[in-house]
Amino acid sequence: MNVEKIIFDIKGDERGSLVALEALKNIPFEIKRVYYISDTKKGVTRGFHAHKKLKQILICVNGSCKIGLDNGKEKEEVLLDKPNVGLYLESGMWRTMYDFSEGAVLLVLASELYDESDYIRDYETFLKYMNE
Ligand code: TYD
Repeated sequence: MNVEKIIFDIKGDERGSLVALEALKNIPFEIKRVYYISDTKKGVTRGFHAHKKLKQILICVNGSCKIGLDNGKEKEEVLLDKPNVGLYLESGMWRTMYDFSEGAVLLVLASELYDESDYIRDYETFLKYMNE
């Protein structure tokens, strides 16, 4: 499965750590949008969609969560629990986000502005789209 983790340098010192994210440097696209998911209630699973064009990097900057991935052929689960690890998700990947720990913050960098027409929110439609 085409799932890539990107390890970011930590500029750590006795004060703590700092991670810098730069478009077309350690992030492989121009960042047009940033959003973050926090205060996720216990037992909640989010996502249940794929994108036609959008590329994203997911970073759990605090706490942990799991990402369920499905490219229409294979499934994989990725644990995100480090603020310097980004999961690079290209288009054509059905995803769910779940098992958010207390205080988890999932930061997402996106290659495009929000566009509902880029979403595939029905799983059967996703499978057909991937087999076209
Ligand atoms: P939703 O797609 O349900 O989130 P998730 O994929 O995490 O399950 O998005 C929740 C709401 O936020 C929905 O009304 C769409 C809106 N939204 C934006 O307005 N801008 C954005 O960049 C995103 C990701 C969502």
